[in-house]
Amino acid sequence: MCRADRGVVLGLHRSGPDRDVLEHALSLGVRGIDTAYNYRGFTSHRALACTAGDLLGEFTVSTKVGYFPSGTGERPMHSLDPDRLRTAVERSAHELGRSPDLVFLHNPELALSGLGPAESYDRLAAACAALAGAARSRICGAWGIATWDPRPLAAAVEHDTSHIQPGVLMLRAGLSVAAPMLSAGENVCRVLDVAPECRWGMSPFGGSTTDPAWSAVDLRAFLAADQDCSTSQAAFRLAYELPPVARVAVGTSNPVHLRDLVAATTLRISDSAISRYRELIQKKGP
Ligand SMILES: NC(=O)c1ccc[n+]([C@@H]2O[C@H](COP(=O)([O-])OP(=O)(O)OC[C@H]3O[C@@H](n4cnc5c(N)ncnc54)[C@H](OP(=O)(O)O)[C@@H]3O)[C@@H](O)[C@H]2O)c1
Repeated sequence: MCRADRGVVLGLHRSGPDRDVLEHALSLGVRGIDTAYNYRGFTSHRALACTAGDLLGEFTVSTKVGYFPSGTGERPMHSLDPDRLRTAVERSAHELGRSPDLVFLHNPELALSGLGPAESYDRLAAACAALAGAARSRICGAWGIATWDPRPLAAAVEHDTSHIQPGVLMLRAGLSVAAPMLSAGENVCRVLDVAPECRWGMSPFGGSTTDPAWSAVDLRAFLAADQDCSTSQAAFRLAYELPPVARVAVGTSNPVHLRDLVAATTLRISDSAISRYRELIQKKGP
């Protein structure tokens, strides 16, 4: 029997879609898959449709647009060009064999750095209008913004918010997020009035659990008393608090790890430890 959705989203940034993992995810109550137009050399959508097209109806599928093939075979290039974004959403739906439930504008900050607030706002608003138009045309269910570094975004939305109303905002989450990123992300949520239930976290381990820092820390102080878990589980649970988010996109190709992540969502956290941690990282400065 499938269990209730606990806000775990299986991210496909680092691993290709694996049918066994996806079936296991469903059995654990994991209902979200997050991918992107450019993942796996622009093949992620087709691979997903090919490997698990018949399962996709059981998942909420989110993807992202903003990176495009460079044409020279080199690194993908980033663009907020509205026509390219719209075409990428259409192609995503075609490749997936279904409309994505959610399409994020992928790392818009890359096109905003170095611009003044007014120009940043104009570029961002035009890109958001393209995604909002795609959602209105039902090419995708809803649209949002996924940002790795929310600081340039904060500058744009502090200038104006009138045409920037994402349904979801996805931010880095957890202990690997430095204080300036954390506060800029929370600021963007506040200015855009994105409620906690519409905020998603990503990359709860900063991309890897093999970093020696993870084996050097003891995270038990963050948990309410009398609970046992691994460092990865505690770190994952904390990603729902820093900043407060309803869902967390995490990468794993290991079914045991996925089971551990789902189990971690029920861990109880010490609110006072979270507050103290926030105070400490703010004091430490950038
Ligand atoms: N700008 C953006 O929009 C953006 C940027 C980055 C990420 N994201 C989203 O966030 C998702 C996750 O990010 P990410 O893959 O970069 O980083 P991540 O989730 O922080 O880390 C993934 C790594 O953690 C390991 N791991 C997961 N669960 C574990 C467990 N229970 N125990 C031990 N190790 C565990 C995985 O190894 P195993 O495979 O061995 O479990 C994998 O190597 C992406 O797939 C994407 O959906 C979005």
